[in-house]
Amino acid sequence: MERLDYQQDRLGWEGHDLTHLGDRFQTPTYVYSRRRLEENYRRFDQAFAEIPHLICYSVKANSNLKIISLLVEMGAGVDIVSGGELQRALRAGADPACMVFSGVGKTAGEISAGLTSGLLMFNVESGGELDLIEKQAQALGKVAPVAVRINPNVEAETHPYVQTGQVAHKFGVNSLEARDLYRRAAASPHLEIRGVACHIGSQILEARPFLDAFDEIRAIAEELRGNGIEVTNLDLGGGFGINYGKEKALDLSALAGGLVSRLRGTPYRLILEPGRAIVGDAGLLFARVLYVKRNAQKSQKSFIVLDAGMNDLIRPALYGSYHEILPVRRGPGKSFLADVVGPICETGDFLAQDREMQEVEPGDLLAILTAGAYGYVLSSNYNTRPRPAEVLLNGEQAELIRSRETVEDLLRAEAFDPRKT
Ligand code: LLP
Repeated sequence: MERLDYQQDRLGWEGHDLTHLGDRFQTPTYVYSRRRLEENYRRFDQAFAEIPHLICYSVKANSNLKIISLLVEMGAGVDIVSGGELQRALRAGADPACMVFSGVGKTAGEISAGLTSGLLMFNVESGGELDLIEKQAQALGKVAPVAVRINPNVEAETHPYVQTGQVAHKFGVNSLEARDLYRRAAASPHLEIRGVACHIGSQILEARPFLDAFDEIRAIAEELRGNGIEVTNLDLGGGFGINYGKEKALDLSALAGGLVSRLRGTPYRLILEPGRAIVGDAGLLFARVLYVKRNAQKSQKSFIVLDAGMNDLIRPALYGSYHEILPVRRGPGKSFLADVVGPICETGDFLAQDREMQEVEPGDLLAILTAGAYGYVLSSNYNTRPRPAEVLLNGEQAELIRSRETVEDLLRAEAFDPRKT
C-alpha cells in the first residue's frame, strides 16, 4: 500500500496520523483512501482506453454506498449479485444501463427487480434461471437482456475457495450447454441476447488464464454472430490479483495488451468486473492491542490479542490469507514471534500466525493492511460483536462513512422484549 509511512515513528496514511484517527473513531475501524480508490479505477479505465469498454465495479468486494458512489461518479458501472446489491447500487446513483447481474441463485423477486430497473444484462448461470427470467419478463411485459455465463474450464492458480472457472464448480454452464441456452433465448420474444460472460476466479496473478477464457467467450460470440445474433458485450468477469505483501500483482498492462490486440477493430465491447483490484489496497483495518500473552515456555506460542478478529476480517481464518500488519507507533526495533489473534472464541480466530512482530503493549494500535476488499462485507456479529466503523480519507478530511454498529442495533430485530413480559 502506497503513501503509508512513518513520521517521527507514527504511522500515517495520506497525510493523516493513524493515532489521531484511532482516538477519534475508536477501534476496530476500516479506513479507506479516496485517492487510492480513484487511482485504481483510473488505471483500469486507461489500460483499455483504446477499445470500447465498461468497468463494472464488483460491489461484493466493498459495498459501502460512498465507495460505490465515488466509482460511479468516475464512470464505473457495477456488477451485482443480489437484490440487496441492486438496491445499494441504485441508491449510490449507478446507471442501470451499466449494471450486470451475476450469481447462481437469483430469485424471482430479484429478477423482477432487475427487470424493472432496466439493467444492462443478467449473466445467466443455468437453464432453470433462463426459464425463470423469461417467465418474469413475460409477466412484466418486458424483454429481458441476457448473457450466458460460460464456465470455460480454465485452471487459474489461486485459493481453491475462489476458483470458479472449472467444471467442478457451481458457476456458469459449459460451452455446449451455453449454445443450447442461446438457441432458446434467440427463439423467445421475451429475451434479448446482449453478450457472453465468464468469471474464472479471484486473486489470479497471471494474464494467461484470462486470455484463454476470453478466447473461449469470443469464439461463442463469433458463432452467435454467424447465426445472425449481434452480441456486443464480452464480459470477462473479475479476479485481477493484487499484492498483499508477498506476491507480484497481476500485470495489468500485459493483460490489457493481450485483450486490446484481440479486440481492436472488432464490434465488441469489453466488460470487466474488478472488485479487489479497485478497493483491496485502498483500505486498512486498524485495531487496538488488548493483551500480550507471552510464552511461558519455549514450546508455547506468544499471542497479541486485538479488539478485531475473524468477525471483522475473516480472510486469514477462511483462506489462510496473508495481510501485512504494521504497528502504528514504531518502537525501538525489538521484535518477537507471535500469533496476532482476535477476541473470538475460536482457535481459527487469527489475523496472522507465527509473525515477527514489533514489541507492543496493551493500548497500542496496529494497522492490518490491504483490507479494503472482502473485509467489512464479510464481517459478522459472531459473539454478539457489533461491526466496525468505516472512515474515508478524503484529502484533508476523514469522513465517517458508516457508523459503528451498537449492541442495541443487534438486539432491535429480535422478538423478545422484557418490558412486555
Ligand atoms: N465477478 C464475479 C461474477 C464474481 O463472482 C467476483 C468475485 C468478481 C466479479 C470480483 O472478483 P475480484 O475482482 O474481486 O477478484 N472472498 C474472497 C473473494 C471471493 C470472490 C468472489 N467473486 C476473498 O476474500 O479473497
